Amino acid sequence: MKWQNGTRDDPVSCREKDRGKFEITARDGQARLGRLHTKHGIVDTPCLLPVINPNIRTIEPREMWDKYGIQALITNSYVIWKHDKLKDEAIKNGVHSLLDYPGMVMTDSGTFQSYVYGDVEVGVEEIVQFQKDIGVDVATMLDVFTRPDMKFSEVESAVMETLDRGQISIETSGDVMLNGPIQGGLFSDLRAISAKEMSKLEFNVHPIGGIVPIMEKQKYKDLAKIMLACKSNLAPNRPVHMFGCGHPMLFPMLIAMGADLFDSAAYVLFARDGRLLTPWGTEKIADIEEWPILMPSITHFSPSDVRKMNKEEKTILLSKYNLEVTLQEMSRCRQAVRDGTIWRLAERRSHEHPALREAFLWLTTNPSKMKMQPLILDEISASKETGKEKGRWEENWDWLVNSQLTPRGGGESWGGNDTLSRPHIDMAKRKILSRWLSRKSGDVVLFHGTSAPWRDKIGDLVERICWLDYELFIQTPIGIVPWGLEDLNPWAHIEGPSWLWDSKPDFNKVQNELEQYGIHNRKVIPVDISDTEDLHKRVFELLGIEPTERNPDDKKRSQIVDKLCVLCNVKQSEAISMCEDATFVMSRTGRIRNVFDSKGEHLFSPRLAEGGISLTVNGARKLHQLRNEKIPQGFSSSKLINHVGKGPAWIVVDDDAAPFVKDGRNVMHGFVIACDEWTRPGETVLVVNSSGELLAIGRSQSTPQEFATFTKGIAVKVREGCP
Ligand code: GUN
Repeated sequence: MKWQNGTRDDPVSCREKDRGKFEITARDGQARLGRLHTKHGIVDTPCLLPVINPNIRTIEPREMWDKYGIQALITNSYVIWKHDKLKDEAIKNGVHSLLDYPGMVMTDSGTFQSYVYGDVEVGVEEIVQFQKDIGVDVATMLDVFTRPDMKFSEVESAVMETLDRGQISIETSGDVMLNGPIQGGLFSDLRAISAKEMSKLEFNVHPIGGIVPIMEKQKYKDLAKIMLACKSNLAPNRPVHMFGCGHPMLFPMLIAMGADLFDSAAYVLFARDGRLLTPWGTEKIADIEEWPILMPSITHFSPSDVRKMNKEEKTILLSKYNLEVTLQEMSRCRQAVRDGTIWRLAERRSHEHPALREAFLWLTTNPSKMKMQPLILDEISASKETGKEKGRWEENWDWLVNSQLTPRGGGESWGGNDTLSRPHIDMAKRKILSRWLSRKSGDVVLFHGTSAPWRDKIGDLVERICWLDYELFIQTPIGIVPWGLEDLNPWAHIEGPSWLWDSKPDFNKVQNELEQYGIHNRKVIPVDISDTEDLHKRVFELLGIEPTERNPDDKKRSQIVDKLCVLCNVKQSEAISMCEDATFVMSRTGRIRNVFDSKGEHLFSPRLAEGGISLTVNGARKLHQLRNEKIPQGFSSSKLINHVGKGPAWIVVDDDAAPFVKDGRNVMHGFVIACDEWTRPGETVLVVNSSGELLAIGRSQSTPQEFATFTKGIAVKVREGCP
């Protein structure tokens, strides 16, 4: 898209066959960067659709396009329908001409007006037909608004009525993309049902409805609950829109939970009241002498200059300011998704407002404790009696954790106790705790007292003791980690104050963690490595052994075995036998660069940046041959713990795609016909054809559910084809 003399080229329409499709281009857990394909351009998400009131255009839509680069906006078809002048113009020349806006236009249906004013005169089919007639890109059906004060039975009928209307609206919409809002008030069960059932209908986008009164009262915990109940039950290939949500303070948390589109009139409404939006809350122009954030619109004015302006001038200027701040926070979130730090941003922002903190703490503590069964429609009657949540919606924390990419590059910045409940750390721990197995029966030696890289500090010592019957662990601020994985992120790269590494081991905690590693009733010998003077002597005395020869190969083998088990899900006995006669090429800094088998075939290369491991074609063939499982069928997903030692997940692709994949091309969504239940984004996978023959090695970009639903975008990034 080009800017010239202050104007910007009109958007290029998407390909006809892609219209309505949504693809993911980058992800960070459930947060995603996406592209929504529409007739008036491909919209990059997450993004904000500013609300345009067709009667009062505080900032001209054309300016939004030309100056602010806004790719999509939302207006209200009911307002246009009600006003003859607007209606006639829209019918005659289309909504894009009416607004003088070339980008994607979404319209709402009048549901919100029915919530505010009691009723609307327009019919269910009529409003969809009208939106179609005026040429909108994404129309909205007339859903039934669910208020937070409504009783269970009332909300239930609204959800069911919305479902019925959904079917009718889809039949009317033809080729116009359609929003299918998710209702359900404060009842998670009903939100889950609404999400599941609406996903079965052919909608293109799912807004989360009925949340405006919740946000107005700053009930952010309720908002988080609603979001989890909806998102974890929605088809993942449909973008999710937050109806009426435009306060930048909420973006990071909602994006981390998978929100793609936001709309809001907040930028104007707040401006009218002299209020400024910031990522940490709202400030009043009446109270400030300095701008909270400097933005292009106000560079020539101080707050006191603005206070002196007339009402209209002030509203326009503050609307621009609010829009700029909002767009800035949205960009920040998008970059955080690219950087893998969106959760960290949400965590930081949660400290800005007590209600947001409450929501975040609920999110990181409560859902993880709930062991819930998937909900079925018939079970709803039980909840009807009490009107209370029965806790039968899916295990939502798992839904957040299962989408996390691990291991990842870059440091893990310490954020206090919140660090321990980051979902990607949970995922990394789940992998290590379920797949790592002890190989020694003796005592545990626990090194503590210093930060990574530990190999520089005690690598030499470890070479002398690693072949003895001791299990070696290192204490880190996020838990203990086996020596073989000492360079694995996040444990190896935690950025925080130095005192984090000073603390002495808490033995109860350590025993607890060892239990989780499957190590029971063993003596723990702590070794403080903060001071390396006389360390060898001290350790030999402590262990009661004589100084021994070094055994560097044993150390290297144990590292590769541990990595194969944890990162490629290889059975420990198989990993050991594969590494028995292995030889190693080392880097100048003494790290393993390549691993060869006894015949000199290159099998694996550790990834130095995050402590991962890459398979070569030979290595992949070996792991492929070791498989004892059947070829996967379908796209179910289950816990990692149920599939330990079954090898890297297999992704089965359509035979049409097979030759391309074998040639090293990426696997595209739509060509995957099945995958293993333990497939997770970021994991090393083997791509096979329908007979199970190896085609390529890659990194999955998706969960099984995503493979099942997406039809556009990269499904597996292929590292190497296997000719
Ligand atoms: N705008 C704000 N909330 C809603 C909602 O629940 N439904 C619709 N259609 N529009 C909205």
